[in-house]
Amino acid sequence: MKNEDMLMHVRGASRFIDDIPAPEGCLHAVLFTSPVARGKIKSLDISKAAAAPGVAAVYTHKDVPGLNQVGHILKDQPLLAVDSVDYIGQPIALVVAESQRAARKALALIKADIEKLEAVFSPREAAAKGLIHGKRRERVTGDLAAAYARCKFVAQGRLASGPQEHFYFETQRALAVPGEHDTIKVHASAQSPGAFHHHLAEVLGIPMHKVELDIRRLGGGFGGKESTAVWITAPAMAAFLLKRPVKLALARNEDIATTGKRHAYEYDYKLGLDGEGKILAYEVDLYQHAGACADISPAVLGRSFLHVSGSYRIPNMRVSGVSCRTNIPPNNAFRGFGVPQGTFAIEAAFTHAAELMGVPPEELKRLNLLRDGDTLPYGVELSGVNAGRCWETLEKNSALAARRAAVAAYNQAHADSKKGLAVVPVCFGISFAQTALNQASALVNIYVDGSVSVSTGAVEMGQGVNAKLRLVAARTLGIPVERVRVDTTNTSRIPNASPTSASTGADLNGMATKYACERLRGRLLEFAARHLSCDDPAGVSICDGAVCVGEKGPVMTWEKLAAAAQWARVDLSEHAFYATPNLHYDMETEQGRPFAYYSYGASLTEVLLDCARGTYTIESVEVVQDAGESLSAEIDLGQIHGAVVQGMGWATMEQLRYAPDGKVLTGVSGYKVPDIKFVPAKFDVTLLKDSSNPYAVCNSKAIGEPPLVHGLGAYLALVDALRSVRKDKPLPPLPVTPERAFMYLHAPEGEK
Ligand code: MTE
Ligand code: MOS
Repeated sequence: MKNEDMLMHVRGASRFIDDIPAPEGCLHAVLFTSPVARGKIKSLDISKAAAAPGVAAVYTHKDVPGLNQVGHILKDQPLLAVDSVDYIGQPIALVVAESQRAARKALALIKADIEKLEAVFSPREAAAKGLIHGKRRERVTGDLAAAYARCKFVAQGRLASGPQEHFYFETQRALAVPGEHDTIKVHASAQSPGAFHHHLAEVLGIPMHKVELDIRRLGGGFGGKESTAVWITAPAMAAFLLKRPVKLALARNEDIATTGKRHAYEYDYKLGLDGEGKILAYEVDLYQHAGACADISPAVLGRSFLHVSGSYRIPNMRVSGVSCRTNIPPNNAFRGFGVPQGTFAIEAAFTHAAELMGVPPEELKRLNLLRDGDTLPYGVELSGVNAGRCWETLEKNSALAARRAAVAAYNQAHADSKKGLAVVPVCFGISFAQTALNQASALVNIYVDGSVSVSTGAVEMGQGVNAKLRLVAARTLGIPVERVRVDTTNTSRIPNASPTSASTGADLNGMATKYACERLRGRLLEFAARHLSCDDPAGVSICDGAVCVGEKGPVMTWEKLAAAAQWARVDLSEHAFYATPNLHYDMETEQGRPFAYYSYGASLTEVLLDCARGTYTIESVEVVQDAGESLSAEIDLGQIHGAVVQGMGWATMEQLRYAPDGKVLTGVSGYKVPDIKFVPAKFDVTLLKDSSNPYAVCNSKAIGEPPLVHGLGAYLALVDALRSVRKDKPLPPLPVTPERAFMYLHAPEGEK
């Protein structure tokens, strides 16, 4: 199954927001943002900017026609600042002009007198001061004191993982076009049609049926376009007030400096093992660096919280988590949605514990790997666990034992360079942890010429969800995929859609599409039996785009069937709804069944480290990933390749630098993302064989995010190499950049 969208991308034929021809009279909007991390706005003078050449209007919070609020989970984020600011980059005013250049020029004419207040940039400091979003979460299972008393080895320490810039090719942008009767149509690069539709209506102060949000595709989202409605509501507000089309597009450095990132985390961990290496107890405290507003941070923290046990059986455990309110731009979702961060601590703790025991970490991991019948800390008893099968397939394919021996032999023979190896198992819960979001609807129209159009709430952002929906519809109806087209994601066709995130896009929308197509097929088969005067209606079928009766070959084409059915007044349009069954979670007891199923995987990463320079090469990555009965091996392999490389980027090279005043210093020229040369020479991906999954569409499994966790292998393999040289320091923070590797090897303890 080809992903047509990909072909269009490489040919430059795909349309993004900037490819929509600017409507007549289109204006351009630019945000004036806070230069200080925390302060009181004493005065704001926009008069000079408003009078500047080409400027149509300059708006402040006073001009917001509806609610000046875009908070996603908590209502704590004004669209335009009122009397205080909490991060550098916080929107204060909106300049709208005939050109982007004129708007940018006018920015310099705005005078803001802001009294600086003390700001907080450390999540631990914020937590200590009680600066948190939402509530602190904690769960204790089993008897920790008794369990630690029985431990032979206890690995205890601190860890830190860094932020990650989404670096989607298409920066945040939207085009708003006003219509008659105070209506507005917004084209946006956004992952959450339902939520953004709601934000738009609230900010404009009009009912949702007057707002139409239309999304063709995103030039990448990776979670960064899921929750923050600023860059969509701002141009919409201007278009609404000026009655002219308005576009807003962040410049790359503006996007890097002012939009949310993957959350950095800090951790305290304590992993206790018995003499054989079995986990008896684990404690972990998560400090999430959330930023100035809650945005979607509490939800991301929740998912970290549910994944701290990784792929392992842990009988006694305590986990706590706080979403720390600091004075940086509010962070948001990023592929993995907190799972990579939650899993990182236990994976690193294994490295530490294995050193104490004097065995390779993979031996301990294998011993503690989840299997059928194990109960997760939130009370789910597992079945259908593929963790072991993924591990065994990897072990066999990669000759793991021999590889470990070869690494040891190499390191024995070489002083100037060292090899490192790591195995990472993945267990990733699939469903929105927020039960209410696990719903989707589809609208399927069959036209009289037999062509089929599918609309859902799913947003195409490069992950191939449209290709998968096409496939599901074609398969269910019994027609070639060429007959099916997936229409734009549009709030007038599909209302109240959940975000396309948590890797559930194909699962949820695919299921709704399947239901709609099943009903259409049922009606058409019934009609065909009547129309063809069949004695046995059960013998009628549609396959390969034709009607068949019993053993007889095709008796009528799909196109003729559609036309005849319409003429006979059969309804050729169907809407269907799907809500994932049996999901529940209680935040008070921290128990429940938050996920419909789990996606498993295992990977082996090997690195070569130059000890003199701290530079390194990721030599090989081998992955076994469970995709259930993959809807499209081509798309799923692409998703795995992309996710693993993105995860390795987070673990090794992607780093943001902040000035002491909280300003982001890293721009596009300084932010390193993995390129093709970084991709390991040996990069083998295998889909797990004979895996089925009754909980998702056509027995497939979600694939968008889970493989990103394998990226941790790059960190762990590098640490494996570093620790073969020196062990007198605590584990380094993630990412292990070459500078960090160099300092780890050569700086005395205490120096970074
Ligand atoms: N792949 C591409 N090419 N671009 C993206 O923006 N986003 C990822 C993943 N794969 C993304 C991607 C994220 S964060 C998620 S949650 C899933 O795709 C969402 O799509 P799905 O639910 O349809 O898998
Ligand atoms: Mo993905 S981070 O759940 O959009």
